[in-house]
Amino acid sequence: MVVSSIKKHFEVPLNSYSAKKEKEETHFFFESTMKLAILLIGVYGCLALYDPSSYTDRQCGSDMPNLWLDVVAVVDNSKGMTLNMLTGVATVLVSIFNLVANIGINPNNPRSTRIGLITYNENATLNADLNAYQSMDDLFSGVFGSLSAVSSSRLSYLSNGLETARVLLKNQSFGTPRDHYRKVVIVFAASYYKGSSEWDPIPAAQSLKDDGVIVMTVASVWDATTEFMNDLASISSPGLVFDISAQNDTEMIKSAVMMANCYCPNAYIQYRELFEDKSSTPYGSCLHPNNVSTSWKASQLNCRNRKAYLATEFTQHKHDFIVESVTSTTGFHPPLSYHIGLNQVLGKWVWDQPQGLPQIPLQSYSDWNPMYPIQSSSMNGVENFQNGQMTGWQNIDQLKVSTNYICESYACDTDNYCDANGNI
Ligand SMILES: *[C@@H]1O[C@H](CO)[C@@H](O)[C@H](O)[C@H]1NC(C)=O
Ligand SMILES: *[C@@H]1O[C@H](CO)[C@@H](O)[C@H](O)[C@H]1NC(C)=O
Ligand SMILES: *[C@@H]1O[C@H](CO)[C@@H](O)[C@H](O)[C@H]1NC(C)=O
Ligand SMILES: *[C@@H]1O[C@H](CO)[C@@H](O)[C@H](O)[C@H]1NC(C)=O
Repeated sequence: MVVSSIKKHFEVPLNSYSAKKEKEETHFFFESTMKLAILLIGVYGCLALYDPSSYTDRQCGSDMPNLWLDVVAVVDNSKGMTLNMLTGVATVLVSIFNLVANIGINPNNPRSTRIGLITYNENATLNADLNAYQSMDDLFSGVFGSLSAVSSSRLSYLSNGLETARVLLKNQSFGTPRDHYRKVVIVFAASYYKGSSEWDPIPAAQSLKDDGVIVMTVASVWDATTEFMNDLASISSPGLVFDISAQNDTEMIKSAVMMANCYCPNAYIQYRELFEDKSSTPYGSCLHPNNVSTSWKASQLNCRNRKAYLATEFTQHKHDFIVESVTSTTGFHPPLSYHIGLNQVLGKWVWDQPQGLPQIPLQSYSDWNPMYPIQSSSMNGVENFQNGQMTGWQNIDQLKVSTNYICESYACDTDNYCDANGNI
């Protein structure tokens, strides 16, 4: 159904435009969309939920049908965009979301994605507010309908489009029951206005980002120059600049959209590739260093009360990340010490897991301090303890040694809906 709708809409520019180049370009879009649609069916079929016994840290969910976001597409429709490119933008836009199960609001399922559409040239126009599209059919007909003609205006003021997106999110997302949904603005731009005047898009983009909105940009021209890509990068959230004429573009945007859905509730630190770079690749896992000193057993129960568990350290990378996290948390002082999820059950070291799941036996990586673990039937909990420059594992009595602790939980993402209170 998806493919045939795209095809139907594509016949419009194909028939009405005869220039050879434009025909070829349209053909490229049509062909890549077909491939994409076929590819996606395959991807959908082999989704796998996270398996803790894989002894890897959890990746962000990638279950596109369960995407839950508020998205505003901001599309340049000035004359310079050309009709073929505008149709290409429509195709990419619907292809990004064509697997999402719930477009609009579904009263029975909070995992839904709303998509608003703004076009801009000299002025910006709100084509669809966040409640206009309530089904995939609405999205298809709305997007292709609104993007079926370019404006006669040659002026292209992205700042106006971004400002309208900001007001739309303020009107219909922030401070509403969907306040906790991540918010994404996807800009499709054919040109970039440079210069410090009221048309400079940088302040408008910055004010979105300051409100926590994720800004993605898609260069919507055939031959994007490095300069154009760099200009778009200056308004995007880190790394989220795409090129519509790159073969794999739609797939990359889809990944970025699913990553945008992957976040941690307040007070949690998202586990990621580099502690010092918040935009480095995130894991689907959240850490909460807790500065209240208590026993290992009480720590475990406190984590469980928040639907979390005591943190795992499957790798040196995770261990080091946790050391960096606690170093920047108030209430943790050298020598650092904090409980983690390692504990001994029936003579075996295992990692704590969400309540109801089996604990995971300790595997290859270990980080015991010298002389540890101490053989003792009563020392069945584990804390990290700083010994000079190194921080490593020491086993302790689960009831008698009080110290800080680290809770961990799965991130809020396509596999885990989180409510407004951050409860997974
Ligand atoms: C933009 O808005 C101004 C002021 O309302 C108007 O004069 C102008 O014609 C508009 N431009 C376009 C292309 O619609
Ligand atoms: C925001 O809300 C105001 C007041 O209801 C309305 O006039 C305006 O058109 C809305 N703008 C957008 C972009 O939603
Ligand atoms: C296309 O994008 C997907 C998702 O980002 C990525 O996994 C894949 O490796 C990319 N393929 C190519 C050929 O670049
Ligand atoms: C623990 O952390 C909270 C929140 O960051 C902070 O307000 C409090 O002062 C800290 N407690 C100690 C003992 O540092």
